[in-house]
Amino acid sequence: MSSQVPYAQRRARLASQLGEGGIAIIPTAVERQRNRDSDYLFRHDSYFYYLTGFTEPGAWLVLTAEGQSILFCQPKDMEREIWDGYRLGPAAALDVLGVSASYPVHELDATMPRLLENRRRVWFPFATHTGLAARVEGWLHAVRARARYGALCPAEQSDACLLLDEMRLFKDAHEQDIMRRASQISARAHIRAMQLSARMLRAGQEVREYHLDAELLHAFREAGSQYPAYGSIVAAGANACVLHYRADAAPVRDGELVLIDAGCELDGYASDITRTFPANGRFTGPQRALYELVLASQDAAVAATRPGSRFTDPHDATVAVLAQGMLDLGLLDRNKVGSVQDVIEQRAYFQFYMHRTGHWLGMDVHDCGSYVEPGQERQTSERKDPLSGETITNRPSRVLRPGMVLTIEPGIYVRPAPGVPEPFHNIGIRIEDDAIVTESDCELITRGVPVQPDEIEALMRA
Ligand code: GLY
Ligand code: MN
Ligand code: MN
Repeated sequence: MSSQVPYAQRRARLASQLGEGGIAIIPTAVERQRNRDSDYLFRHDSYFYYLTGFTEPGAWLVLTAEGQSILFCQPKDMEREIWDGYRLGPAAALDVLGVSASYPVHELDATMPRLLENRRRVWFPFATHTGLAARVEGWLHAVRARARYGALCPAEQSDACLLLDEMRLFKDAHEQDIMRRASQISARAHIRAMQLSARMLRAGQEVREYHLDAELLHAFREAGSQYPAYGSIVAAGANACVLHYRADAAPVRDGELVLIDAGCELDGYASDITRTFPANGRFTGPQRALYELVLASQDAAVAATRPGSRFTDPHDATVAVLAQGMLDLGLLDRNKVGSVQDVIEQRAYFQFYMHRTGHWLGMDVHDCGSYVEPGQERQTSERKDPLSGETITNRPSRVLRPGMVLTIEPGIYVRPAPGVPEPFHNIGIRIEDDAIVTESDCELITRGVPVQPDEIEALMRA
């Protein structure tokens, strides 16, 4: 745990938005059993961590509009600490976390009704923590039961995510610094996996996806990352066309591409990088042609990632380049799909590019934050999706502003189909970088691993 300063500042900012008589309740994540005596690896709740920097399970934060912060945490317990490790405990939490009061977590149910009494509005995260709403309801019952003694029960409940999502969407300097470091570790891991693939193939060794996955994990942990930010995708050959493929045991063959989508989590923050490279270190002609198309589409998206743009602008820029390329390379037949404008309007490109070009990135890999511009939610327009026939309601997309962090990840995935030129069959390519929106444009924080095909080939020869 580093300095308490950013956490105390965030608590103060949240407190200032709770309204007169407001109180907020933010629990950390629950521990989950995997089987018998084994638990899933515990990972704190992102909202809770954002406000405390505290990673132990069994903890709750209560914040009042007047700026009190009350922590409930696991009590010191010599026997449990012998089995499970050190606990901070309520007494030390006061100083270490800078909270104004702290209690052992087993006092939560007895204490909460007292804290809720006479408050106007209670804030907690809605629809994120199973059972939380019922727990709050139970405490409010206890408050009501004391009405005859003059206790007032909060009459309003509000979703704390509304406030916290908006705060988390803009990364402060402390967060940007961690995200840059996470990105550097992940970039280095990608380079190592690329080099391992070429080196093993050159040595005549059998390479499997898990060899490259192991190299990524090694590089993450060796650099101090706690764990991968999400399940690593290491997809050899045709597996790259499966969007949510996970690193498995398929052979990595000479002459095929490998798509790796992997990033570490460092001190609570995710990185998210995809690179696609030739297993042996040399692109074939068709591989390079598609790769350069995806790269050009990413360049267009990067250019559109700047303050004042809308969140959807990078996606639209990507699609324009990809659609033109699909026609030029013969993936789409002009005689069937028409002009590039038709390809975009009818979404014919969807056959080969079926995901969005980015998402917010932060503590969660798909981070929180509204994709709709605040205040413009009601400016709706409707259109019929040409592929599904569903009616889609459009709302004005979020305006990009300094401090927002998002991914830029175009791709192309060519499954064999009638009319699709054979040399492109089973090629899947994605290039993903992480961008911080700056005052003038954006900073790509993941370019510690190159994207230019010549540079990838050079580093794989090394
Ligand atoms: N790795 C998850 C994503 O790219 O969205
Ligand atoms: Mn991503
Ligand atoms: Mn990714």
